[in-house]
Amino acid sequence: MKFFQDFDSGVGKTERKPFSGKQALVIGGTGGIGKEIALLLAESGARITLHGGSSRERLALTMEAIHERGGEADGFLWQIDGVEAIDRIFSEYSTCAARAAYISRNERFISGGYYYPDILVYAYGPFKRAALNETNAADWQFLTQQNLTLPGATVSRVLPSMLERKWGRILLFGGTNTDAIRGFATTAAYSAAKTSLGVLAKSVAKAAGGAGVTCNVICPGLTDTEYANEAVRVYNRGKSPTGKSLSSKMVALTAMYVLANRSINGAIIPVDEGVVV
Ligand SMILES: NC(=O)c1ccc[n+]([C@@H]2O[C@H](COP(=O)([O-])OP(=O)(O)OC[C@H]3O[C@@H](n4cnc5c(N)ncnc54)[C@H](OP(=O)(O)O)[C@@H]3O)[C@@H](O)[C@H]2O)c1
Repeated sequence: MKFFQDFDSGVGKTERKPFSGKQALVIGGTGGIGKEIALLLAESGARITLHGGSSRERLALTMEAIHERGGEADGFLWQIDGVEAIDRIFSEYSTCAARAAYISRNERFISGGYYYPDILVYAYGPFKRAALNETNAADWQFLTQQNLTLPGATVSRVLPSMLERKWGRILLFGGTNTDAIRGFATTAAYSAAKTSLGVLAKSVAKAAGGAGVTCNVICPGLTDTEYANEAVRVYNRGKSPTGKSLSSKMVALTAMYVLANRSINGAIIPVDEGVVV
């Protein structure tokens, strides 16, 4: 496939799937954009560990969809609240990774007893709409913790293993229109946190780009995921410059291009059809 031609291993020149032998952890991978990326990564040869919030059904359905396409996947649920969630996520990931036969042939053991993935997609990012004067301290704490502190601390946690392997891919998600510093009427706290992810991605690129690690931020437009109710879908279409919905799959296809190309690093990429919110 064309978007894989720049991939480090020379994909495009060989029959090998581009992410064969790679392990991916998709946080928020059981629904929405994360799920679509998990499906495409699995089709591209990566072994997937899915993280989901609370829906055992969505976890099972996503695993089933991956298996039906001939991919390998396992997964776990964990409701992300405070920073202690990070330890839990890597404990669960390590259990999944250790169970996989693949691991016994390719040891990815890092000090402290944890396994870490080659590819980290941090998709989960909760949203709350409120005017600035109606955004209280708890909202600020919640939205910045979920959308900046936790992705940031997760990146810090996986980076040493990627540096050691001299290969890694990290993909983060901004908000709609958070590819530059802007003002937002009803999403200031969420958007402030999401805009800051650009600093995180550029910092990884600066620190680890030379060691084969990339980190980028995709800023989706208003996307019709399975979580969007009819009112949200109508709102999204009304805002869309094309008058049509943006699907999770459309965002995921760009995500795959970004993950496959080592030349894209520290980038903040709108995938929004030019929408202005
Ligand atoms: N959708 C949009 O229009 C849009 C626009 C701009 C930016 N974004 C950003 O793009 C990213 C993906 O968004 P999305 O709308 O596809 O999905 P999302 O709602 O951010 O994520 C869905 C995933 O997160 C899991 N999850 C939900 N609540 C959780 C919790 N409390 N703890 C842990 N995991 C939880 C879900 O599992 P369960 O199903 O089990 O709950 C599912 O796997 C986010 O960072 C979002 O901010 C989205």
